[in-house]
Amino acid sequence: MKKLRTKCVVGIQWGDEGKGKIVDLLAQEADMVVRYQGGANAGHTVVVKGEKFVLHLIPSGVLHRRACVIANGVVVDLLQLLQEIDELGSRGIRADRNLFLSDRAHVVMPWHKALDKAAETGKGKIGTTQRGIGPCYADKIARKGIRVSDLYSPASFEALVRAQVEEKNRILSALYGAPGLEPGAILAEYRGYAARLKGLVTDTVDLVNRAVDGGKRVLFEGAQGSMLDVDFGTYPFVTSSSPNASGVSSGTGVPPRKILTVLGVAKAYCTRVGEGPFPTELKDAMGDRLREAGGEYGATTGRPRRCGWFDGVATRYAVQINGAQELAVTKLDVLSGLDEVLFATEYRVNGKVTDRMPSETGGLAGCEPVYRKFKGWTADLSKIRDYDDLPGPAKIYLKFLERYLNVKISMVSVGKDREKTIIRH
Ligand code: IMP
Repeated sequence: MKKLRTKCVVGIQWGDEGKGKIVDLLAQEADMVVRYQGGANAGHTVVVKGEKFVLHLIPSGVLHRRACVIANGVVVDLLQLLQEIDELGSRGIRADRNLFLSDRAHVVMPWHKALDKAAETGKGKIGTTQRGIGPCYADKIARKGIRVSDLYSPASFEALVRAQVEEKNRILSALYGAPGLEPGAILAEYRGYAARLKGLVTDTVDLVNRAVDGGKRVLFEGAQGSMLDVDFGTYPFVTSSSPNASGVSSGTGVPPRKILTVLGVAKAYCTRVGEGPFPTELKDAMGDRLREAGGEYGATTGRPRRCGWFDGVATRYAVQINGAQELAVTKLDVLSGLDEVLFATEYRVNGKVTDRMPSETGGLAGCEPVYRKFKGWTADLSKIRDYDDLPGPAKIYLKFLERYLNVKISMVSVGKDREKTIIRH
């Protein structure tokens, strides 16, 4: 085995940290970019020379014509994938030339989307993206899922679809009073998708492991973020996969000891979409200001994001569970012009102060952040490329962030465009 050159990029807040831009930058130096979890719930926005690309399934590395892999841990919406390939094609990027789709990946089927939508209408909604993610992963674990490889065994595919439609129609009708699905139409539609995607389907476990063992620079691209992790996030207000670095192994088949470095991506403040606890949320004019200045609207659903100050407690916990050795801080420019910038160092839960992340969602919802205040800065940061040129108060804020999280900041993003980035190490 040659020297390992693997890196995993993970969001260490509630998703939307700007991973797409960081992966796009790092992909210039990579041989292969691999998505390992999530599905079309993700929305990675990359701006190249003023041109905006929003990718939901295809790794951001595609813009550099790198080998891009959708690995076994991803749940794949085939129509969305084809639309992305076509959209990139219409803009001169032949994604299908460099794209590999795992034969073990699970397929998001129409009943998954129908169930996701139906479950979100009643009480206890999570605020999902309604892309069928939860129901698809639920079927995977319940051993009722349909994998990409099943698409190419016509008889068993038909049997699986018919059995699933029968079961899911009963649930849709009995629990939600929702209309049922028609298996014939689904079979015809999915046979068409399967034919178009056939050339991309391969054993990505072998492909990626060979690349890693051969000393290739392999980048693992996480979707969502640590606080949305099904095990470690603010359960049940989470997504149904493992966005953390621990998800790389189960999501690709690359063993844990071969993940060399982990880079955490955090915004200079915090956002969250959907329901669930968000201790540092600002429900006032300051929250609105961050939303407008940061363009904080969901890339997948267009929903306004909830905005708040940097949550040191949640982010430090995320650094711990990911073993992040490096940090990319994004959207620092959005904080310019504020008199002061706040950073939550602890939570007050039931009168007690703690710097640990509570496991209990109810406790988290009622907790009050303890803030440290920093002097703001006014300068426009978007043209700064050298860390030393940042305004003094911004450097003090970042220095504190580094110390608090005990991880080195290697990149600072100061604008949407690829080039609006400070590379430090
Ligand atoms: P689901 O992943 O669609 O099931 O949604 C579950 C939760 O994760 C909801 O709160 C979503 O808003 C959130 N979520 C899913 N994907 C993303 C993402 O890419 N960015 C931010 N939040 C996400």
